[in-house]
Amino acid sequence: MRIILFTGKGGVGKTTAAAGTAVRAARAGHRTLVLSTDGAHSLADAFALPIGPEPTPVSDLLYVQQVDPQRRFERSWVDIQGYLLAVLDAAGVDPITAEELTVIPGAEEVLALLELRTQALSGDWDVVVVDCAPTAETLRLLALPEALGWYMDRVFPAERRIVKALRPVLSRATGVPMPRDTVFDAVERLHRDLEEVHALLTGDTASVRLVLTPETVVVAEARRSLTTLSLFGYRVDGVVANRVFPTEGADPWRLQWTAAQAEVLDEIGQSFSGLPIWRSSYLPGEPVGVEALGSFAAAAYGHDDPLAAPTTDSPMTVTRTRTGATLRIALPFVATSDIDLARHGDELVVTVGSYRRLIALPAALGKHAVTGARIDHGALQVRFRADLEGHG
Ligand SMILES: Nc1ncnc2c1ncn2[C@@H]1O[C@H](COP(=O)(O)OP(=O)(O)OP(=O)(O)O)[C@@H](O)[C@H]1O
Ligand SMILES: [Mg+2]
Repeated sequence: MRIILFTGKGGVGKTTAAAGTAVRAARAGHRTLVLSTDGAHSLADAFALPIGPEPTPVSDLLYVQQVDPQRRFERSWVDIQGYLLAVLDAAGVDPITAEELTVIPGAEEVLALLELRTQALSGDWDVVVVDCAPTAETLRLLALPEALGWYMDRVFPAERRIVKALRPVLSRATGVPMPRDTVFDAVERLHRDLEEVHALLTGDTASVRLVLTPETVVVAEARRSLTTLSLFGYRVDGVVANRVFPTEGADPWRLQWTAAQAEVLDEIGQSFSGLPIWRSSYLPGEPVGVEALGSFAAAAYGHDDPLAAPTTDSPMTVTRTRTGATLRIALPFVATSDIDLARHGDELVVTVGSYRRLIALPAALGKHAVTGARIDHGALQVRFRADLEGHG
């Protein structure tokens, strides 16, 4: 099953590109679902059809779903809050209250992405297209289960045992209700589910497409997104440059725009070299409805197969060397001085600006010592030497 996500700055055409790609996929004979995780009913607007919170058929083989996180998670919201609080606490975020939690940007969307897991595992679809929120924020949050791995593996079971043993005593003594087993179960289930979503979205058949418009500020943000997405293990396999002004028959006003856009398009080509850059023209009207969306995507992809398996390198690879191994993490646009690296036992902590990822090292590297790291050709290369314990 192929999963394709669309992300990019607000208003650049994510929903349009996602919907158009889904129309092409269905036309090519694939059972296709396009789902949106944002609260605004933008897919309904794009298709100009009423879309429900369950997959709604809109044409042959094409279903559209507007996930409603509130509806799906009303019952388990309390458990989820508990989990998120634990997550944030473990991540060192200042203690916050459960009320404040509801306004964490992206939290709802993360929950909505759980629906993606349900649909992906249902076996009903060949292609799932996801219309994501602006920026890579959500995808970053999805990496939290990984960051929390140590907590869930080591601290959490102990906590659970302690609470279980002390619950009768503590509840009586303090009057404070202690978490019940069902809460622990729910938290564990949620943790596992989120881990699965992350695994699905960083797997071999999943990829992310960046949607942008040829404007310098938009491109700057797309570059940052590419870095962040790579850091968190997502594979970007293409860029959609939307709203390109046609040069034909341009008046002086439009000519100024086409000249400015040409410069930025040039920069886009350099920034994202190695990735296909699909262009779509600024149309004389909104591409709304199955037909218009299909034409939008057909024009953008041209002869390219919109469902082609991603050929870009996996964001993280390990290669053996004579003395040990090299771990390579794609980190485009980053300089060695922008990176902070630390080793905590079996984990590597990579910090780039305000983003931090805890990477569980492959078992083979667990006993190796880090001997050096540098940025080379848009990737962080960390060198490991075998024999950390230096036996003999
Ligand atoms: N190439 C284009 N030519 C003309 N109109 C376009 C084009 N691409 C998108 N639009 C229109 O621009 C508006 C915004 O597009 P869209 O909803 O796809 O953006 P978005 O990135 O999903 O926005 P949001 O960040 O709000 O989710 C829509 O009305 C859409 O029909
Ligand atoms: Mg949208």
